[in-house]
Amino acid sequence: MRQAQVEQQGRGRIEDRRTDFPALQQMIHGHSLVYLDSAASSQMPGSVIETIARYQRNDHANVHRGVHTLSHRATDAYEGARDKVRNFVNAASRSEVIFTSGTTESINLVAQSYCRPLLRAGDSVLISHLEHHSNIVPWQLLCEQTAAELRVVPIDEQGQLDMPALARMFDEKVRMVAVAHVSNALGTINPVREIIALARQRDVPVLLDGAQGVPHMAIDVQELDCDFYAFSGHKMYAPTGVGVLYGRESLLDAMPPYQGGGDMILEVSFTGTTYNELPYKFEAGTPNISGVIGLGAAIDYLQSIGMLAIARHEKALLAYLMDELQKISGIRLIGTAPHKASVQSFMLDNIHPHDLGTILDHQGIAIRTGHHCAMPVMQHFAVPGTARASLGLYNNRDDIDRLVAALHQAKQIFS
Ligand code: ALA
Repeated sequence: MRQAQVEQQGRGRIEDRRTDFPALQQMIHGHSLVYLDSAASSQMPGSVIETIARYQRNDHANVHRGVHTLSHRATDAYEGARDKVRNFVNAASRSEVIFTSGTTESINLVAQSYCRPLLRAGDSVLISHLEHHSNIVPWQLLCEQTAAELRVVPIDEQGQLDMPALARMFDEKVRMVAVAHVSNALGTINPVREIIALARQRDVPVLLDGAQGVPHMAIDVQELDCDFYAFSGHKMYAPTGVGVLYGRESLLDAMPPYQGGGDMILEVSFTGTTYNELPYKFEAGTPNISGVIGLGAAIDYLQSIGMLAIARHEKALLAYLMDELQKISGIRLIGTAPHKASVQSFMLDNIHPHDLGTILDHQGIAIRTGHHCAMPVMQHFAVPGTARASLGLYNNRDDIDRLVAALHQAKQIFS
């Protein structure tokens, strides 16, 4: 029902949306830019850039703090963006939408504010082998602080979670589950519904790292039935330095503040402080106002196309990308799970990924090379790093043809 509504909002051909992105209209080393690095950071459409510029030119003031016109305008735009996020992920209430600096802060907030008071020595946190460092290190820190154990669900050669192992590891000691919705290094879409169903049986909360989920598919946190969902603006066509923690209201309500400061309080005195209500309890200090407003504009933009249309477009492109890469002799695809979104890692012959990235850059093609902030994934596949092409709504088949032609050239250079 809700997906149909999202779909209905779509208009225009997605192939024509490339022109909405000013950064994509430039030449790099004499070639038109092919941007295949959206998993690291996506480009912003003109509408987002202009919304931020308009706010900075006309409406900037602090939020929730002033009686003057500019402060009202800034507050309305900031809180309006919260409503947009609520609607975008279908949270039950705007109190469940916390603005953070990004996925990393969202996950650290849950680790420190939800888990730290709860965990005892011998308890466990369950994560997986394909996590981004931002969904590993906060849990390692927490485990050091509480003498809890970090359990890591293994992955197979296609880059899929070993679900029987996960079920075995999920005993009564597990107090928290944190997994990626979509792997940034491999593109694997994890079976999160199955994981959440298992966790429900044991009454254990689940955090989904949605940094690579939100830009590529319609997200409905109520339908997923997750407890926390973390994501970043800059991977969904919004600016850097802004992100969201969705949290189930009953959990957020019971959690202590993560940081102290202005705006998260109702009353402060030296005998004690009372905290503000949700969501402000978790938004200490002046927030990234323009970033939040830009995030709201990015949501407007995505909804004007429709998340189902975006998912369909990227799915077809990913299939084309994988097919075309596989035709190149000496290619090794890393991450071949049947359910994937918008990312393909690979190795070509024995060319170091950084050399490959540099050669491609000279052809105007931007990919990411290295460990993708997921070193355990590299260790699993016994590689120092990979080359990774990642897709956004603005990519098309020509981009992939250009990538493949440049990879053939790289082979020649190194042969
Ligand atoms: N997490 C980002 C990536 O996957 C930086 O490249």
